[in-house]
Amino acid sequence: MIRSVIAGVGSALPKRIMTNDDLSKIVDTSDEWIRERTGIKARHIADDSETTRTLGLAAAQKALVHAGCAASDVDLIILATSTPDNTFPATATLIQADLGITTGFAFDMQAVCSGFVFALATADAMIKTGQAKCALIIGSETFSRILDWTDRATCVLFGDGAGAFVLKAQEGDAGILASKLCSDGRHANKLYVDGGPSTTKTVGHLRMEGREVFKHAVVNMASVMNAVLHDANVPVLDVDWFVPHQANKRILEATAKKLGVAEDRFVITLDSHGNTSAASVPLAFDVAVQDGRIKRGQTILMEAMGGGFTWGAILARY
Ligand code: ACO
Repeated sequence: MIRSVIAGVGSALPKRIMTNDDLSKIVDTSDEWIRERTGIKARHIADDSETTRTLGLAAAQKALVHAGCAASDVDLIILATSTPDNTFPATATLIQADLGITTGFAFDMQAVCSGFVFALATADAMIKTGQAKCALIIGSETFSRILDWTDRATCVLFGDGAGAFVLKAQEGDAGILASKLCSDGRHANKLYVDGGPSTTKTVGHLRMEGREVFKHAVVNMASVMNAVLHDANVPVLDVDWFVPHQANKRILEATAKKLGVAEDRFVITLDSHGNTSAASVPLAFDVAVQDGRIKRGQTILMEAMGGGFTWGAILARY
């Protein structure tokens, strides 16, 4: 059976680090409040020269090196983002050009914080149906550009960054084992951006009902992870690492409890990255590969939830 094997991973972060103390000079907040309620200590914030395109390109180049692939091997690029460089063309096509690729196809995917999981599942389906053999899947975001920097309830939560996977079509037991995607648009007004080209003709700012998001996140993440494990017939105790969307430490603690697994099996990077939306899963995955936690042959469960609401999970043997 042909599977989509994770051949390489990479990530990139903006140079500038913004700590909670830095934030307390901008809005009425404190390091103590942010740490206690979210687990976040710092985040990276892009300067004017760093964009979704440049961060995504840097992550993609590292993933290609890690996979031992040339850019010319790539026949599909999917970029998950809610903060593209321009409304169009797709930022994925800009990165395609930056990499010197003139064959295959590239497009953006928008499922907010679940974007990377949606992009992986889409690429997996294309690989399994023979439409692609070597896919570059990127999550890249500059959420700092759509934050209301006067709203302390949201601006403390997010950061900028990018992560990327190279997926290769390969026969065998390794690769993506199962995936499940979900959405429920009735909750669109709980987490959204109050602008857009067709309505206000502006980019808009992120708005959120934090408590509502929290409540739904725990229920949805636990249920979609259980569904994927059930579909793949893999017991939860056989999962070596959970790589979740990095929204809030308390959401992750509650999710681990609901699943009945120890928190130390969750890869957590939100303390130093904040919530980087579609970039958070591949960024966390890359950190855990680099520091030796995630090893070849291990079973990994990735999951995310975001605006829409959208949510989903992917089970893979790395
Ligand atoms: N610093 C200090 N005080 C603050 C801050 C801040 N940064 N933000 C809010 N407060 C205040 C509020 O004004 C409020 O004050 P009041 O009681 O005087 O009115 C008080 O803290 C409590 O506010 P709540 O919003 O009720 O605080 P809560 O305990 O719910 O924590 C939080 C807020 C952290 C946003 C929480 O609801 C949460 O984590 N929600 C999930 C949201 C999330 O993770 N979103 C990410 C995007 S979605 C995703 O990626 C899945």
